[in-house]
Amino acid sequence: MHTLSSQLRSDGVAPELELLIGELAAASKTISAKVRQGALAGVLGSAGHENVQGETQKKLDVIANDVLKQTLGRLAQVRALASEEEDHPVPCHVEGAYLVAFDPLDGSSNIDINGQIGTIFTVYPARDDVPALSPEQFAQSGRAQVCAGYVLYGPSTQLVLTTGGPVRLYTLAQDGGFVLTQEALRIEPECSEFAVNLANFRHWSAPVQAYIQKLQAGVDGPRGRDFNMRWNGAMVGDVHRVLMRGGIFLYPANTQSKVHNGKLRLLYEAHPMALLVENAGGRASDGQGDILDRVADQLHQRVPVVLGAACEVQLVVETLAQG
Ligand code: AHG
Ligand code: MN
Ligand code: MN
Ligand code: MN
Repeated sequence: MHTLSSQLRSDGVAPELELLIGELAAASKTISAKVRQGALAGVLGSAGHENVQGETQKKLDVIANDVLKQTLGRLAQVRALASEEEDHPVPCHVEGAYLVAFDPLDGSSNIDINGQIGTIFTVYPARDDVPALSPEQFAQSGRAQVCAGYVLYGPSTQLVLTTGGPVRLYTLAQDGGFVLTQEALRIEPECSEFAVNLANFRHWSAPVQAYIQKLQAGVDGPRGRDFNMRWNGAMVGDVHRVLMRGGIFLYPANTQSKVHNGKLRLLYEAHPMALLVENAGGRASDGQGDILDRVADQLHQRVPVVLGAACEVQLVVETLAQG
């Protein structure tokens, strides 16, 4: 049996990073315990404020953010934090070697219906070429990530993590420790399942609409086979399904001005999920280039996302290139 720390050590993870990941896991256990109690812990419902992106915060968005901020902010190796629920980067320790970005609670609209929710996180190296606590610290390529992962608060609480190598799956045991339950998740290059919010169909570009219509046409259409569809309303649940049984996930650019780059945020949603998917043999694109090559020019920058089965993502990229 491999615990999280024993596996990280055998994966050759630097002790400072191992400690940081251990604290991320500890924070997620605290969040998991509150999620499990739900209404009994008074964590459901709205917090009554808006975040910088104009979303109404749920109580659990705020609670999860506070838990992560307090836990990680104490660590000497953390130079700064970035969060969906914080307007600006949170400076921590000027000598710290790492930056941590997180979506404290992904799938907020699922909180009150007892649906899938999770925490998404990533760790970047701190930069020495820009001022130590400046927002430019987070202007980094996704390829710089030294670790990326998420915790899914589903029927079981699971941690999915890559530190550059294989994508490991851990399950939270009753004694409170994460135990390795799958050594390496892999995404098959072909798939027959897609995830997209079809309610947004009218807002997509014509090539995206045409691509989805071909999937919907099934065995009688140009693809010559049936495609199933699933939509969780939580990226963490949709990407987890793709990692577990394959498929493609899309959150395309909208023609609506407010969300014309799509809904998902580059730094703490798209980058970490892209690293996980690529390290599992899949692909993650913004519709043109690799998400991992994108550099955030704003903390909460949004990006279109197409990720999952490598051949299917390639097909989308080619379709969009033809216009
Ligand atoms: P968050 O709850 O962290 O704001 O993220 C929600 C995101 C993502 O998890 C999911 O894929 C998407 O919103 C769902 O959007 P729809 O409202 O289009 O279903
Ligand atoms: Mn949100
Ligand atoms: Mn999210
Ligand atoms: Mn969130």
